[in-house]
Amino acid sequence: MRHITDDIYYVGVNDHELDLFEGQFEVPNGMAYNSYVIVDEKIAVMDSVDIRFGEEWLQNIKEAVGDRKPDYLVVQHMEPDHSANIVKFLETYPGAQIVGNAKTFQMIANFYGLELGDRKVTVMNNGTLSLGQHELTFVFAPMVHWPEVMVTYDKKDKALFSADGFGKFGALDADEAWACEARRYYFGIVGKYGAQVQALLKKAADLDIRIICPLHGPVLTEDLAYYLKLYHTWSSYEAETEGVMIAYSSVYGNTKKAVELLEDKLKECGCPRVVTADLAREDMAECIEDAFRHNKLVLASITYNGGVFPHMHTFIEGLKERGFQNRTVGLMENGSWAPTAAKTMKAMLEDSKNLTWMESVVTIKSGVKEDTAVQIEALARELQLDNA
Ligand code: FEO
Repeated sequence: MRHITDDIYYVGVNDHELDLFEGQFEVPNGMAYNSYVIVDEKIAVMDSVDIRFGEEWLQNIKEAVGDRKPDYLVVQHMEPDHSANIVKFLETYPGAQIVGNAKTFQMIANFYGLELGDRKVTVMNNGTLSLGQHELTFVFAPMVHWPEVMVTYDKKDKALFSADGFGKFGALDADEAWACEARRYYFGIVGKYGAQVQALLKKAADLDIRIICPLHGPVLTEDLAYYLKLYHTWSSYEAETEGVMIAYSSVYGNTKKAVELLEDKLKECGCPRVVTADLAREDMAECIEDAFRHNKLVLASITYNGGVFPHMHTFIEGLKERGFQNRTVGLMENGSWAPTAAKTMKAMLEDSKNLTWMESVVTIKSGVKEDTAVQIEALARELQLDNA
C-alpha cells in the first residue's frame, strides 16, 4: 500500500506465480493487478484483483482506509483479472455499493450470478459520482478491451484511471523499460481495437491529465506526452521505428542462411535497424509486436504441405487479426520441388490495407546458391529504396 497522491492509495498486488497471462502470454517478470483507493468524505475502491490475491487486496484496502469502510467499488472492467473479488468485497463490506454501467451489471450477473438490487449504482457515459472533494467522471471506452470498459477521471488530482489502457506485462518490482512490455501487451491484447483506442485518446485530449493509473504496470506520472504519443502511434497502425523485421520459418537451416544474408545486405545498404525472428523458437507475441513496431516486414518461409510452415501461418493470422496495415512487405520462400510459400503468404494478407509489396521475391530451391544471393541483393536494394 502506498500513496499516489494525498488521497489516492495503491492497493494492487504483484503476481510472480502466473505461468501464462490470459491463458497465452508469457510473463517472465510476472504481472501486476492494480487497484486504487480514493479516500474522501466517501471512499471509492477502483477495481479488484485476480482471484488468487483477494486476501492480500482486502488487507491493502484495510491499511489504506484505517477504521473507515469503503462506500463504493468502481468496476471499470469485468475481465476476471480485475473483477474476481467483487463477491468477497461485497461480503466484507455489506454497506458498500458497486459502481458500473448497464453492461457491467449484466456481466456481473453472468459471471457471478449476482443481482445487486440497491447495492448497485448505475452510471451513464460522462456520468459523475461525487466523493466529496473528488468528483469522478466515467467515460465509456468500449472494446478497450471489452465492451463494458469505462475509464474514470478524477478532476481534483487530475488522475485518469485508464483500465487496461497504458498497461504492461510485468510485476511492479520488475526492473525493465516500460515501452517493450507495454508494446507487447498492447499488440497482444488491444491491437485489434485501434479505432476504439483512438476514440478514447480523443476524449482524453480534452482532459488535464497529470497521473495515469492503469490496471497493469506502473502508475505514470512524468512525461505523459511520451506514453500518449506511443499509444497514438500504435492505435493508428503507424510504424514506430524505421527498420526491417524479418520473420522466418526454417527447418534445416537453409532459409535461415538466406535470412542472415538478407540481414547482412540490408545493413550494407544502410538500413537503420534489422531484427530477425525464428517464429518456431521465439515468443509469438514478441514477434507480432516487432512486426507492428517496424515500417518494413520480410516474411521468409519454407513451403509446407503446399502452403507455409505452421508457425508462419499462425504469425500471419496474428497480424491479420490485429489489423496489420500501412507497411512495406517483402517475401522469401524455399521449396525443394514446388515452392508456393510466397504466393500463400501474399494471399493471406490480401485484405490488409495499404501494404506495399516488393517486386523482388526470393525463391530458394533447397539450398542457398549464387542465384539466391543475387535475388537477396535485389530484395535488399528494393527495401532500402522504398520509403513508403
Ligand atoms: Fe487486464 Fe482486459 O483485463
